[in-house]
Amino acid sequence: MQELFDLTGRVAAVIGGGGVLAGEMALGLARAGADVAILDFNEAAAEKKAAEVAALGRRGLAVRVDASKKADLEAALDRMLETFGRVDILINAAGINSGTPFFEISEEEWQRILDVDLKSVFLACQVFGAWMTQPGRGGSIINISSASSGPPLSKVFTYSVAKAGVNQITQFLAREWAQKGVRVNAIIPGFFPAEQNRKLLTEERVADIMRHTPMGRFGDPHELVGAVLFLASEKASSFVTGALIRVDGGFSAMTI
Ligand SMILES: NC(=O)c1ccc[n+]([C@@H]2O[C@H](COP(=O)([O-])OP(=O)(O)OC[C@H]3O[C@@H](n4cnc5c(N)ncnc54)[C@H](O)[C@@H]3O)[C@@H](O)[C@H]2O)c1
Repeated sequence: MQELFDLTGRVAAVIGGGGVLAGEMALGLARAGADVAILDFNEAAAEKKAAEVAALGRRGLAVRVDASKKADLEAALDRMLETFGRVDILINAAGINSGTPFFEISEEEWQRILDVDLKSVFLACQVFGAWMTQPGRGGSIINISSASSGPPLSKVFTYSVAKAGVNQITQFLAREWAQKGVRVNAIIPGFFPAEQNRKLLTEERVADIMRHTPMGRFGDPHELVGAVLFLASEKASSFVTGALIRVDGGFSAMTI
């Protein structure tokens, strides 16, 4: 059973790994045996998480990237190849959000959210995918989507548009790369208190979320790790690609 989820000798890139959810995913990968590079805009958070990976006895690496810039991602891949010689797992989890009412959303805000939440996934799949799809390599890409990818949540308009696009990228590339040994899947988390949604979680919205979540609570970041290890492990999910896996306490199954 342990062998099914053993990632010893594997190398993961976790984009947004300085954050609440992807930070926990990074530690989960390390506990399963993987070496982990934390790629994040927030350099201090990336370094802290890479040190936690190292404390678990794995190799950790922190790289500051703006994930919406292709040159940053190319430089990060180069650093990973110099350090580890390979990359087997990519998690795309950089994210920002905003609750600006529709008519007040500026072009700049629209563009910035699409750049960080959607363009970053496109670019990282181009950069890391180009390496993984070469003969004899392969890999597992895990995109972090959202319950807002459809039907959309109230308030978070641009974010919802971006996450719908993340689902499209996931299934497009799953089909495209299925014969090249690269599996592409997404996780759709429900609600987990984190940095990017802190301001959005007003008392009223929390009450709405709880009414709509059959389990009646927020998720805890460690509850995403099982899905991550399943998708990351070639043995556990060898026939799984293009899947959108919900980890949401039943949120998506709820009507009235
Ligand atoms: N928290 C939730 O309830 C929830 C639900 C569904 C999906 N998600 C998604 O999970 C992912 C992780 O978010 P989180 O909730 O842990 O929030 P978080 O704010 O704790 O983490 C986001 C991370 O992304 C990094 N980041 C922001 N812009 C970046 C950029 N341009 N380049 C590189 N890194 C950048 C931040 O520095 C931060 O470390 C996001 O994609 C988010 O949309 C979160």
